Amino acid sequence: MPSWEELERECMSCRRCALCETRKHVVFGVGSRSAEVMLIGEGPGEQEDLKGEPFVGPAGMLLDDMLECIDLDRSRLYIANIVKCRPPRNRDPLQLEQDACSDWLRSQMELIRPKIIVCLGRIAAMALIKPDFKISREHGQWFERGGVKYIAIYHPSALLRDPSRRPETFVDLKSIQKEIRSSCVSTY
Ligand code: URA
Repeated sequence: MPSWEELERECMSCRRCALCETRKHVVFGVGSRSAEVMLIGEGPGEQEDLKGEPFVGPAGMLLDDMLECIDLDRSRLYIANIVKCRPPRNRDPLQLEQDACSDWLRSQMELIRPKIIVCLGRIAAMALIKPDFKISREHGQWFERGGVKYIAIYHPSALLRDPSRRPETFVDLKSIQKEIRSSCVSTY
């Protein structure tokens, strides 16, 4: 198992797929390395690519509001993405890009050992919960994988495009809050 320092150093110079040619920054991930809850998005957008941090653009502002709804903030979470480099024009990451990137996230999960993983959107849910995950039907449902509880909610970008999905997302957020209260040791 690599140390955090080794992992981050190697990841920052990754050239395992073609996204390295167009990225400005590798977006490694941020937050508490002892977090009990991890949030996993899809991949960096324009602002994230510029700043090297996940969810710092418009979707990130909505994400912060969503977290505030359930008394959470970034300091007690770890936030990362399925791919660490921005896909051109924010297209979905290709399967081969996701596969090339997956070891980085897997190592982060092994180092953190979270109790709960929240997938933000369809791409993360398909990569981490099951390949045929249907976000419109299965958001808000809990799954167990290797002793870890997984849930997917709509991606904040999807909620910006279609605010009619916000009420169901509020219900999902409340379910996350309840699960955190029953499964997590630190006071959330
Ligand atoms: N969308 C994502 O999925 N991840 C980010 O970091 C930013 C936007």
